[in-house]
Amino acid sequence: MKKLIVIFTLIFLAFGFNACDNYVIPPSGDVYVSFSTSVQPIFNSDCVSCHTSRDPILSEGVSHNSLINGGYVNTSSPESSSLYQKLLGSHDSRTSTNNKAIILDWIEAGAPND
Ligand code: HEC
Repeated sequence: MKKLIVIFTLIFLAFGFNACDNYVIPPSGDVYVSFSTSVQPIFNSDCVSCHTSRDPILSEGVSHNSLINGGYVNTSSPESSSLYQKLLGSHDSRTSTNNKAIILDWIEAGAPND
C-alpha cells in the first residue's frame, strides 16, 4: 500500500511538473518594451483605420513625430498627456485597458522613439 502511494505521488509530481513546463507565459503586449514593439502595434490595430490623415497621425514611421510635435505627450506629467486622457475619455472603447497601460508606460519612460 505504501508503495502504491509513493508511485501515485511520483506520477502526480511528474505530471504536475510537466504542466508547469508547458505553462506558457503570455507573449508581450503586457508590458512596455519599446515604441516600435509595444506601442506602434496598438496604433496599427486600433487607431490607423481613422488616424492616417487625421491628427495625431498614427501610421508607422510618422506616429512618433506626430505625437511629440503635436503636443499629445507630456513626459513631465504622463497621466495628463492628451493622448492618454483621450483614451480614458471619449476614446475609452478604442483600445483595451492593458494597451492604455502600455501607452502610459511608454510616456513614463520618456516617450522614446525606440
Ligand atoms: C473610428 C475612428 C477612430 C479610431 C479607430 C480612433 N480615433 Fe482618435 N479620433 C477620431 C476622431 C473623429 C477624432 C476627432 C474628434 C475627437 O476629438 O473625438 C479623434 C481624436 C483623437 C485624439 C485627439 C486629437 C486632438 O487633436 O484633439 C487623439 C489623441 C486620438 N484620437 C487618438 C487615438 C488613438 C490613440 C486611437 C487608437 C487607440 C484612436 N484615436 C482611434 C477617430 C478615431
